[in-house]
Amino acid sequence: MVRLETHPFTEDDLADAGRLLAARHRRHRAVHPLLSPQYDDAGAAEAEVAAALAAEDASGAVATRGGEAVAFLLGAPRSGAAWGENVFVDSAGHATADGEGAETTRELYAAAAARWVDAGRTAHYVLLPSSEAAAVDGWFRLGFGLQQTHALREPPTRPPAVRDGLVVRTPTRDDIPVLARLDLELPRHHAISPTFSAAAVPSYEESLAYWEEDFDNPDFLNVVAEHGGRVVATASCCRLEKSSTHTGPARPERAWFLSFAAVLPEARGIGAGRAVAEAVLDHARTDPAYDVLVTDWREPNLTSSRAWRALGFRDSFWRLHRLVGR
Ligand SMILES: CC(C)(COP(=O)(O)OP(=O)(O)OC[C@H]1O[C@@H](n2cnc3c(N)ncnc32)[C@H](O)[C@@H]1OP(=O)(O)O)[C@@H](O)C(=O)NCCC(=O)NCCS
Repeated sequence: MVRLETHPFTEDDLADAGRLLAARHRRHRAVHPLLSPQYDDAGAAEAEVAAALAAEDASGAVATRGGEAVAFLLGAPRSGAAWGENVFVDSAGHATADGEGAETTRELYAAAAARWVDAGRTAHYVLLPSSEAAAVDGWFRLGFGLQQTHALREPPTRPPAVRDGLVVRTPTRDDIPVLARLDLELPRHHAISPTFSAAAVPSYEESLAYWEEDFDNPDFLNVVAEHGGRVVATASCCRLEKSSTHTGPARPERAWFLSFAAVLPEARGIGAGRAVAEAVLDHARTDPAYDVLVTDWREPNLTSSRAWRALGFRDSFWRLHRLVGR
């Protein structure tokens, strides 16, 4: 095989990167036809890579064989204290030609990461299709692990059956205190073992103020579930275009997004999470313009990683993470 060489990513590499990304996306769509066909096209893919290159302090590397680009990696720092001193490679920031193995990924990262670490950016994140097995193997053997999962499924074909003992309904303003409490359950759950997220946990008062202001937001649909006569669970969803997450090739068209769900700790595992999630997602079944459901979760979160796969969500993208020097 012709020897692999690497060079820093520049504007001259955009066309090659667009071609590699479009090819990656076509492979990904063979596994996940629910993804947008838009990025099958090298021009549309190149525009996403160009946007990634335009980000402040973007940098990366390209791997070539005999002068032909076979892989690229492009990241930029993301703001937000919880990310640490970071470089974040988003869904359009990395692609490897079919047939290239894990060693190509390892050489590519070695070429890009020296600059990142020299700049003091030691928290590295890369979002890539979970089906890119050779690349995932390469990242794993670079010290990366699975931090976050994005997933897709088709809408349900019939209304959900609610388990005996649970009542699912639309919340009223009287539910705002319990909604505020439930809103804290996710960051609280993420802060503890085994997720250990660094994200701040808001106060109850902040959560209450948020709900007072946002309760009537027409973009979000909310439901609650009662068990034994009291509210124990909630879930929210919105059309994905109302959310700033799941961008670029990771954004399916015509998708509803399960954006939030929480169950009080003492009521977990009795079907309340399934009941509220299925109830909000049922909107997609009755919305003729939408035919995809998306969500995401912290993979070390034992509860959501089990529950959402049990609801039929299939992994599409994985965010891998490495903290250098720890
Ligand atoms: C995630 C969460 C909403 C799920 O709700 P829940 O009420 O605990 O889950 P359910 O009882 O409805 O179970 C749903 C599915 O998860 C799976 N599941 C639940 N507990 C499980 C366990 N201990 N082991 C394996 N699978 C399990 C089951 O397959 C179940 O499907 P089933 O109905 O076919 O049995 C809830 O646990 C929670 O609030 N977690 C903390 C906050 C959070 O992570 N929110 C989600 C943000 S992405």
